[in-house]
Amino acid sequence: MRRIAVLTSGGDAPGMNAAIRAVVRTGIGRDWEVFGVRNGFAGLIGGDMTPLSARDVGGILQRGGTVLGSARSPEFETVPGREKAVRNLNASRIDALVVIGGNGSQTGAHCLSQMGFPVVGVASTIDNDLAGSDITIGVDTALNIALEAIDRLKTTASSHQRAFIVEVMGRHCGYLALMAAIAGGAEAVLLPEFGVEPEALAKELHEAYLRGKPHALVVVAEGAKYNAERLAAYFRTHKEQCGFDLRVTTLGHVQRGGAPGAFDRILATRLGNGATEALARGERGVLVGYVKSEVATTPLAEVVGKQKPLDPALVQMAGVLAR
Ligand code: F6P
Repeated sequence: MRRIAVLTSGGDAPGMNAAIRAVVRTGIGRDWEVFGVRNGFAGLIGGDMTPLSARDVGGILQRGGTVLGSARSPEFETVPGREKAVRNLNASRIDALVVIGGNGSQTGAHCLSQMGFPVVGVASTIDNDLAGSDITIGVDTALNIALEAIDRLKTTASSHQRAFIVEVMGRHCGYLALMAAIAGGAEAVLLPEFGVEPEALAKELHEAYLRGKPHALVVVAEGAKYNAERLAAYFRTHKEQCGFDLRVTTLGHVQRGGAPGAFDRILATRLGNGATEALARGERGVLVGYVKSEVATTPLAEVVGKQKPLDPALVQMAGVLAR
């Protein structure tokens, strides 16, 4: 092993830069050359990579986003696109690649691995929907951003005895929404994994209103059957069912921006370091994740295409505590 490359792919996540820094400096510590690929798999296809020194990754630990850039590359989903990527890696005499990203990115990493190119993945997505890691880079920061918004919305909601619907990201996974609802003391939560019909939600809100609650906070996952837009449409025509005056806030990409918190900096540093160490041990085609509070590797073949389930006990607890 002499030369490795690192890229960030898919949706950015706070902590990606800390992971890049750890990959680069751990590699340099082993006397390897480390290259950064710009803009994810698109940069791999375009042959857009540059050597990175220890100094090049100085001062990025605390920065949000990814200094390498990221992209979703439709061309990489094609066989010719992937073949071009491997040709470029070989032409640059790269021995192995580290892919920092979430579900789609690790599927791409698995494809490269199946083509015989040595790859190691690093679990990074705010969605926390990746098998092979109990928690992924960016989740904790995104959750804290959602919480800050919820706390603020509760203040104004109480002043006006209003209900707020807050939509959080997570794609098809309800993890962020559920945790934001528990930590934010929400009155209700709507998840892709556990459907709630708007009639039932309206009943819950109305009961809370009659019990004299000063506000009601509903956290909705963007992937829920009734997302914020659909709920808003429902309540426009069924205003009287709710009791509270209703407002809607969609947090969107706000959750992905800004500096990573301490947890994500440390997690990303450990996983980035773990990826380089895994390559040094000769591991290939694995995801480096955080399992039972330890850095652990799982074959990518066992990670891709898997759905990470939500704990139904936590969903039930959120319901009990919403009284
Ligand atoms: O995967 C991270 C994520 O932020 C999801 O929560 C969300 O559904 C998606 O990316 C948004 O993608 P984009 O940034 O391409 O709009």
